[in-house]
Amino acid sequence: MPPLVQVENLEKRFGEVRALDRVSFEIEAGEWIAIMGPSGSGKTSLINILGGLDHPTGGSVIVDGQEIGNLGERELTRYRSDKIGFVFQQFSSGAVSDGRRKRDAGAVFPQHYG
Ligand SMILES: Nc1ncnc2c1ncn2[C@@H]1O[C@H](COP(=O)(O)OP(=O)(O)OP(=O)(O)O)[C@@H](O)[C@H]1O
Ligand SMILES: [Mg+2]
Repeated sequence: MPPLVQVENLEKRFGEVRALDRVSFEIEAGEWIAIMGPSGSGKTSLINILGGLDHPTGGSVIVDGQEIGNLGERELTRYRSDKIGFVFQQFSSGAVSDGRRKRDAGAVFPQHYG
């Protein structure tokens, strides 16, 4: 079986800044991954692209057999809906602190990341 995620020579530039400079890696189905690095090393830039929230400026990103780097907004919306779950760190700590928020969290958790 091919890897679930195949990233090759991925680039993300913001003007002169190279947030991602030809990054390549693969993730197999069932693998658990943590992305670690100092502030400004490109973690959010990478996750935004893998999550279908932003476009790369170069390279290739294949997720579950689909090249997502050049999808249009409508296709990206479908991709996010079908394949991606986000847990935003700024909501997660408060979301379990009381009953009302816990109920709210049921609606927001699957779409957030941190
Ligand atoms: N929208 C943007 N416009 C311009 N530059 C950006 C933008 N987003 C990120 N950058 C720059 O790209 C580089 C990588 O930023 P990124 O936010 O991906 O890093 P990070 O690893 O998530 O950092 P942190 O740990 O602080 O969250 C940094 O130099 C940052 O200033
Ligand atoms: Mg970040």
